[in-house]
Amino acid sequence: MITFPGYETVIRKVYENKQEHVFEYWNDLNDSEKKNLLDDLSDVDFSLLLSLFFSTEDAAEMHFDAAPYIALPKSSDEKKEYEKAREAGDLHVRQGKVAAFVVAGGQGSRLGYDGPKGMFPVGPVSGKTLFHIHAEKIAAYSQKYCVHIPFLIMTSRSNHQVTVDYFNKNDFFGLGRDNVFIFPQNMIPSLDAQGKLILESKKSIFKNPDGHGGSLTALHTSGVLERLKERGVETISYFQVDNPLVRIVDSAFIGFHVLRGADVSSKAVRKAYPEEKVGVFVRYGNNTIGVVEYSDMPEEKTHSLDEKGDLRFSSGSIAIHLFQREFVERITAGTDIALPFHTARKKIKALVGGVRKEVEGFKFEKFVFDALPLTEKNIVFETLREDEFAPVKNSSGVDSVESAQRMMSEQHRRWLRNRGIQVPDKTRVIEISPLVAVEQEDLDPEIKIPDEELVYINSNR
Ligand code: UD1
Repeated sequence: MITFPGYETVIRKVYENKQEHVFEYWNDLNDSEKKNLLDDLSDVDFSLLLSLFFSTEDAAEMHFDAAPYIALPKSSDEKKEYEKAREAGDLHVRQGKVAAFVVAGGQGSRLGYDGPKGMFPVGPVSGKTLFHIHAEKIAAYSQKYCVHIPFLIMTSRSNHQVTVDYFNKNDFFGLGRDNVFIFPQNMIPSLDAQGKLILESKKSIFKNPDGHGGSLTALHTSGVLERLKERGVETISYFQVDNPLVRIVDSAFIGFHVLRGADVSSKAVRKAYPEEKVGVFVRYGNNTIGVVEYSDMPEEKTHSLDEKGDLRFSSGSIAIHLFQREFVERITAGTDIALPFHTARKKIKALVGGVRKEVEGFKFEKFVFDALPLTEKNIVFETLREDEFAPVKNSSGVDSVESAQRMMSEQHRRWLRNRGIQVPDKTRVIEISPLVAVEQEDLDPEIKIPDEELVYINSNR
């Protein structure tokens, strides 16, 4: 057995779990590298990894039906209820009870961009980055409601420092340093096909971010949850960094959530086509509501139709949720109620026998929507895709930069039209700064649009 002063327990654990192959290059390492490897191993939860390696899950085996949801208001009673919810939501925000939370652990690699996805430019005319647009929306809502809405940003190990530097360099986009909380998510080791830890280098093991479900744990471990409590925040408005159309503070949504006493509430749009890559809201046999990820959805259910001939599982998750702070406290307190891990088979770059090569392995991730079945009450709330969902996932085609930019420009054109503002025929692409209007109603009807092809409106005149 190898030895190193101060690390006796870690070393013993590694041997007890038959993972001593991680010391294969021990004699090649200097003391600081040895320490690095042992530090890397010190937080490994071997019993958790073992149970994950042997567990299997199969959504096809589970019984579920389509989840009920609050539909868009049509009748006058429904409109009245909406209005009441909006007022309750407005009050909740104005009282400083809402924080905004973006999960931004991902990189822009699928977009051919080597950096945090949040730093990818998407503004169709301004070229502003996703982070810039989100931050300006929060600044606009803060101004509108006369409060400082805290902006929480979860990064990952690979993009944390770059993200912090970016916000520092841009002076936190006017939000104030004290209102922006940037913290990394936790990491979990991957295993190879034999259930063994994988060496990434001679002095480190391969770990991957623990999924966006890890965001709730990270809120707790970073101490941010405690800070929110001190500030009197009760509701956390959660969204993904890749959606520039997100309505970060939606008073009707917040109002329904508060008035109905929900632990978690989620937004849904009608799926565009059966195979669309979004999770769907379902109701399990025990009456709990959850999301089944597109990749876990059995083929026949994906295409199943209801009595009217419409898609049965048509409520798509756009990954926008409201979480009650107290609920997050409950499920991160280290009790038995916690989010499960999902297992994905992946090729992983490893150091094997002194050679770098790809090995078959298992990555483990938590999904945030697995919190839904753990609630006492949750609601699903319908919204319009064109108002809230333009994910930037691919470099071209479906869910791409191009489609998101088109949707942003179309939304702003719609807002102007609805406010009776003339847009010149010549104008091809139009973008409104969130600081001018974060909602349609903020637009000044007297605003003049210049007679140009590309128009960026960043002042109300
Ligand atoms: C996700 C959802 C899907 C939803 C769709 C809407 C999952 C498993 N599925 O799909 O149900 O309908 O978005 O767009 O999430 N992230 C982290 N840390 C991680 C992993 C992800 O911060 O460890 C962040 C990413 O930065 C991104 C978001 O989570 O903002 C979504 O991750 P992504 O892998 O793009 O999910 P999708 O497969 O697109």
